[in-house]
Amino acid sequence: MPEPSPVSYAHDTADLASAYDTGSDFQFEHGKQLVAELRLRPGDRVLDVGAGTGRLSLHLAEWVGAAGEVLAVEPLADRVVRARARAGDGGQVRVIQAWAENLTDIPDDHVDAVVMNSVLHWIADQAAALAEARRVLKPGGQLAVNSADPDRPHEFVALLSRALARQGVKDQAGLVPPHRINEERLQQLLNQAGFERIRISPVRFHDRFVDLEHLLRWNQSSYFGNFLPHLDLEGPLQQPLRDALAAHTDEEGIQLKRHLVFGWARKPGPAPGSR
Ligand SMILES: C[S@@+](CC[C@H](N)C(=O)[O-])C[C@H]1O[C@@H](n2cnc3c(N)ncnc32)[C@H](O)[C@@H]1O
Repeated sequence: MPEPSPVSYAHDTADLASAYDTGSDFQFEHGKQLVAELRLRPGDRVLDVGAGTGRLSLHLAEWVGAAGEVLAVEPLADRVVRARARAGDGGQVRVIQAWAENLTDIPDDHVDAVVMNSVLHWIADQAAALAEARRVLKPGGQLAVNSADPDRPHEFVALLSRALARQGVKDQAGLVPPHRINEERLQQLLNQAGFERIRISPVRFHDRFVDLEHLLRWNQSSYFGNFLPHLDLEGPLQQPLRDALAAHTDEEGIQLKRHLVFGWARKPGPAPGSR
């Protein structure tokens, strides 16, 4: 399996943010499934860390209603712009430009729940990010987090990796997010960060892509420009990649399996209200 590469946040563009915004249907569905378990209530305050263009933040706003509040934290400027446009003025979603590892604008014991959907596998210092999540949670508050699973990579990873290797492409840096974690590691990180009532669950999805172009554009936007950034995927590599996906292609497009590790946990303390 290829080595992950360090992430460059400088690769992101307004165009990629826009592509993510319009093409992030799978990620949105994963997020909805992740947060449904929280059973949020009207009036709750929720922190959406790595909120991207804010689709899940707006969904969270529906859960907490007009009396609640959603804080959407996102570091990348072009995604912040889109999230703010989506949130509008005066609504209950507030978009803050910040990093998961350093949530200095958010006070201790401030939110009922923290959500991190498809974010943890991008973060090098995951312990710092989880420590910040714990700090800002009220006692008894809930965390919902997920990660791509290195033990069960997305089906496109093995298919594209083999096809690229056959074309002599040895440097496959950027094919996978750099900090994916498995069930055991997520359990360990949550324990070490001081969470309790930890539940970990592997979840399988089937992603549908219209065609190879859709798959590549989706990955580039989801990896904020870090997907195989050194390769020209629109040139002579196109046909071998298309061939590699042929067995997974039917009249509705390409279907590929993806596994994520989902985790839910609580900060110690009496739950705010009873759930
Ligand atoms: C795949 S997107 C997921 C976006 C959103 N959570 C969703 O459900 O659609 C990953 C997001 O994590 C953000 N991200 C990456 N590193 C981060 C970090 N260290 N702290 C906070 N967010 C980060 C990226 O900018 C990107 O918007």
